[in-house]
Amino acid sequence: MTAQFGQDDSCQVTHLECSETGDHYPADRLQGLSRAGKPLLVCYDLKAIRQSVSKETLSRRPSDMWRYREFLPIGDFREIISLGEAMTPLIRLTGSAGPLGARNVIVKDEGRMPTGSFKARGMALAITMAKAFGVTRVAAPTAGNAGAAAAAYAAAAGMEAFVFTPEDTPEATLREIAFHGARLYRVNGLINQCARIVREGTETMGWHDLSTLEEPYRIEGKKTMGLELAEQLGWVLPDLIYYPTGGGTGFIGMWKAFEELEAIGWIGSARPRMVAVQSPGCGPVVRAFESGLDHVAEPWAPVETGIHGVRVPKPLGDRLIMRVISESNGFATDASDEAAEQARAEIARTDGVHLCPEGALCHAAWKQDLARGRVDRDERVVIFNTANGLKSPMPAMAGPVLDCTKPIDYGAL
Ligand SMILES: Cc1ncc(COP(=O)(O)O)c(C=O)c1O
Repeated sequence: MTAQFGQDDSCQVTHLECSETGDHYPADRLQGLSRAGKPLLVCYDLKAIRQSVSKETLSRRPSDMWRYREFLPIGDFREIISLGEAMTPLIRLTGSAGPLGARNVIVKDEGRMPTGSFKARGMALAITMAKAFGVTRVAAPTAGNAGAAAAAYAAAAGMEAFVFTPEDTPEATLREIAFHGARLYRVNGLINQCARIVREGTETMGWHDLSTLEEPYRIEGKKTMGLELAEQLGWVLPDLIYYPTGGGTGFIGMWKAFEELEAIGWIGSARPRMVAVQSPGCGPVVRAFESGLDHVAEPWAPVETGIHGVRVPKPLGDRLIMRVISESNGFATDASDEAAEQARAEIARTDGVHLCPEGALCHAAWKQDLARGRVDRDERVVIFNTANGLKSPMPAMAGPVLDCTKPIDYGAL
């Protein structure tokens, strides 16, 4: 499905800016990394945004991510590549959190997005922009979900997609990527090796590199998680946000959303403490935080976690992630795969909510932080469930088979 906005919706982007040097880059052409090899951030005329939209106007728009169009780089008559990116619900956990005395634990369930994950937000925008710039071939390294979203949106845009993923990516996601018609390659390495293959193939293959933070627009798409959360909570942000951090695009994007909202006067200066959640088997951000560094010094090795979304040995946006932690007075924390699996099972049974392993990792980490006194049980916490639980394997638990040709012994059930 494609859509077009009316002529009155003008684009408020002023330029792109290198996140390291502050150098400006024009926004009217396809861009990748800055000359310093760092992510480019999209900058807006915030005064113009303030004048062109109000909270009231916003509240009358359809419930999707495009309702924030003044905060996005989409101008007049740009063709929007959309698969129906609805606003995702906030679900209060009562069953699992109740016995801990916590009444304010909320899951933002991104599993409701097209292709079953939050990656749809970033890819919807990246592919929309790529299409506007005339791209016909894209390539993405992925832990799985980004590849599925890239494949689906590329299909919707009529583009050719190449996807490179670690070979142990869950089978359901591999099939999903291939099913959308992408050329899928499994790599006997991690996402950083997949990213290298994409980067080095650009000249020969002429594709547009969709890697996290290597192109400037996925972060703007993910920014809508922050805009949406703020609006859903009546423009009062929570005390804590727990976010499973791999490349950190959503983490950085949400913070950017809060900065822009404050700049236009829609929220005050109160911000959530931003908590980057990783694994003891791949925790480069946790290690940097605990060492007091503002960047990740060394790629994490060996990577020993089965939680695919956080298997990023050295995020490209490391300095941006560390800046968000520091400016928000937040922290980085981790939980084991076992704790995550336990949390996933417990919440499925007691709350009826099926978290993905990454969302469950956040819950497990929050529970540990609560026990350690790092967070308070009265604090309002939002846990990001970044994908639909059904996309990840579940324990084999098929029930016994009943013989329907014989009488059923109900007492034995
Ligand atoms: C389910 C899930 N959660 C979290 C992440 C990490 O996201 P980010 O790159 O925004 O840190 C990923 C990335 O692959 C993912 O698939």
